[in-house]
Parts: sequence; structure tokens; C-alpha cells
Amino acid sequence: MRTRRGRFIVLEGIDGSGTTTQAALAAEHLRARGVQVHLTREPSDGPVGMLVRAVLSGRLRSAGGPPFDRRSLALLFAADRLDHITSEVGPRLAAGVTVVSDRYVYSSLAYQSQDCPPSWVKELNRLAPAPDLCVFLRLPARAAEKRLRSSRQSRDIFEEIVFQRRVAASYARAVRAVPRGRLLVVDGALPKERVFGAIRTRLDALM
Ligand code: TYD
Repeated sequence: MRTRRGRFIVLEGIDGSGTTTQAALAAEHLRARGVQVHLTREPSDGPVGMLVRAVLSGRLRSAGGPPFDRRSLALLFAADRLDHITSEVGPRLAAGVTVVSDRYVYSSLAYQSQDCPPSWVKELNRLAPAPDLCVFLRLPARAAEKRLRSSRQSRDIFEEIVFQRRVAASYARAVRAVPRGRLLVVDGALPKERVFGAIRTRLDALM
């Protein structure tokens, strides 16, 4: 008998929108329903993802000290994604495991398109397969900024309010690339239980 392919579910939104929290809740809910789940994230925990995180935090800089080139960073995000898909996500889906990822290709379309030509970013990510469900947590940059301010000490290079405002606008365009019927937009300003309520209904329908 052939194993039924697992579902690939991704969560997207600006920094502070709650993707990490909701990804964990989604995984927990599915497990409680008896579904085999693998929870993961991008940047991934693979070698390229670790490199990306070191650049984002400022721990790793370019030779000579200038800020890391954003086009090179776009390439690293895309490389990490293909590595993540090939080594971690794909094999699990094939084995029937459902994969929940905190961020995916729409992050690149929204963030890297700020510094690089959007059509180039899209091309770099052309080989990344579409998810079965993309949950987009929509939240204005100001609301996200408030949350981040109360919860974080150190900040990544992308967490500036002006930049986040542009990313928020860009996300609305980025998620248009989600195949028809596979996008769920949730108001990220709602209490986290209500956000999850909307996600849970959709998950139950999907499974
Ligand atoms: P994030 O999941 O927010 O990490 P943390 O919870 O550790 O802060 O992701 C790190 C940052 O990387 C975030 O600002 C979004 C950004 N990012 C991109 O710019 N492009 C991408 O393709 C991905 C996956 C993330």
C-alpha cells in the first residue's frame, strides 16, 4: 500500500506577528489528533540556515566589516530553502509526516524584495514547492513593534519599524503567489487563542 503524502503547512507574517507561537500550537493540535507532525522553521537549523542566522544577528559580518550584502543574503535564504526542502521537509512528506514550517518562501518574496528586484527573488525561489496551506498572520507594523519591544532584548537586522512597514505592505503582494484555495489570512491583532481558533478550523478541514 502506498503511504499518503504528508501535508505541508507554512506560517507567514512580519516579525512579531506570532508565526512561531502559532506554528507550535498548530503542531500540538495536530499531534493531539493523532497526526504525525514535524515542526520546523526557516531560516532552517541546517548549515546554510545557521549561517543566515549568524548574519541576521550581526555575529557574522563581511570581510573588511561592511554590512552583509543583501543580494548575497537573498541567495543564502534561497539556498537554505532548497537544502531544507531536500534534506528535511521532502523526505518527511514522502513518508506521510505532516510538516509545519515557521516561515517559508513568502518571507523571501516579502523581505528580500525590499533590497533586490522582486522578479529575481521569485526566480531564485522557483524550485521551492508550493505548500498545501499558507497561513498569513496579517498585522500592522506598529502593533508588531509594540510586541517586539516588550519581549526582546536583542534585535535582528530586519527588525526596524520603517523596514517592517514596507515588509507588511509587501506581504500582501507576496501571498498572492499562494495557489488558489491554499491561503488563510488571519487578523494577527486578535488574541492568540482566537488566531489559533481560525487556524484550527482550517487545519481540521485540511486533514
Ligand atoms: P524569524 O523566524 O523571525 O527568527 P527569530 O524568531 O529567531 O527572530 O526569522 C528571522 C528573520 O529572517 C525575520 O526577520 C524574517 C527574515 N527572513 C527573510 O528575510 N527571508 C526569508 O526567506 C526568511 C525565511 C526569513
